[in-house]
Amino acid sequence: MLVAGVRAFGGEVQTFDVDDPQPLAVDEVLIEVRSAGVGNWDDIIRTGGWDVGTSPPLALGVEAAGVIIAVGAEARGVRVGDEVLCHPVPLRGQGAWAPRLIAPVSSLAHKPSEISWETAAIFPVPALTAEQVVDEALHLNGEETLLVHGAGGITGSLIVQLAALRGVDVLATAGPRSADRVLASGAREVIDYHDPGWPQRAKALAKGPIDAAANAAPGGAAAAMTVLADGGRLASITPDHPASTRGVDVTAVYVRSDGAQLTRLSALLGSRRLSMPNPRPYPLLQAAEALAQVVANHAPGGVVITNDT
Ligand SMILES: NC(=O)c1ccc[n+]([C@@H]2O[C@H](COP(=O)([O-])OP(=O)(O)OC[C@H]3O[C@@H](n4cnc5c(N)ncnc54)[C@H](OP(=O)(O)O)[C@@H]3O)[C@@H](O)[C@H]2O)c1
Repeated sequence: MLVAGVRAFGGEVQTFDVDDPQPLAVDEVLIEVRSAGVGNWDDIIRTGGWDVGTSPPLALGVEAAGVIIAVGAEARGVRVGDEVLCHPVPLRGQGAWAPRLIAPVSSLAHKPSEISWETAAIFPVPALTAEQVVDEALHLNGEETLLVHGAGGITGSLIVQLAALRGVDVLATAGPRSADRVLASGAREVIDYHDPGWPQRAKALAKGPIDAAANAAPGGAAAAMTVLADGGRLASITPDHPASTRGVDVTAVYVRSDGAQLTRLSALLGSRRLSMPNPRPYPLLQAAEALAQVVANHAPGGVVITNDT
């Protein structure tokens, strides 16, 4: 099958043929991919910085939406014809920029019928990451104040939305192009991160001490930590993890595949309690351009690789 990915770590994104998916293990399904998400983490995989369990020649892509076309002997709760989304890492074969994808049933959620293939495909990684920040790393409750740094991105926006759903008072940083969208996501105040005085502005806008901060801005974790009260909690999803000072609890969050969690998050998306942008579609043959757009920060609404069916 024709896939888009790399023949060696660090190589350019190309299309090339790989073997068809191997026979399914008992806990796996085979998905006909309709759309696959493109994130800047794919560039980290491309260069060997994130071990997704398979080595090149490798199709990139670690999130997808599609239709199940075969099920393993012990794949419970799913059938051929089901519409699903997933973040199936560690990969069982090739990645998702491909016509077909093997995924363990434990990584799957059913796709809400109201949600497009494209939107479903860019949901798994940001949604799982955001939930793992809000629930598992920061344990936020509705009495607290949260600062989200880098809320203009898809993951940052979902952190804002999930915290606001809990009743948390959310302050956020974003650039001018994203400010209205972040306010609509549930932030009480949005501060432009281009202003070097944004941490002071955030503290001035808070109703009391800032209990927790989530950093989704590349290189932004140390600045995010400065807004926290002594003994506060910082969770960062970018590779810069500052040492703890003033008793701040610092957690580095790396997204984990979790089908049950993705199922709960997908239900929130289907009922419109979470919102997502409509990503820009690219054909498989333009995967290199699709990734370049994301890496250059030119695609605030997200990007997908879409297969013709
Ligand atoms: N650890 C993990 O498991 C994990 C999981 C998901 C994502 N990530 C990482 O988290 C980061 C955000 O992911 P994402 O999905 O939200 O990416 P995204 O959708 O591509 O986010 C892009 C947005 O980031 C904002 N931004 C860029 N530079 C910024 C800065 N210096 N300060 C504040 N905001 C800035 C911009 O917002 P404006 O439009 O407001 O300017 C831009 O629109 C990426 O680096 C990604 O690789 C890590």
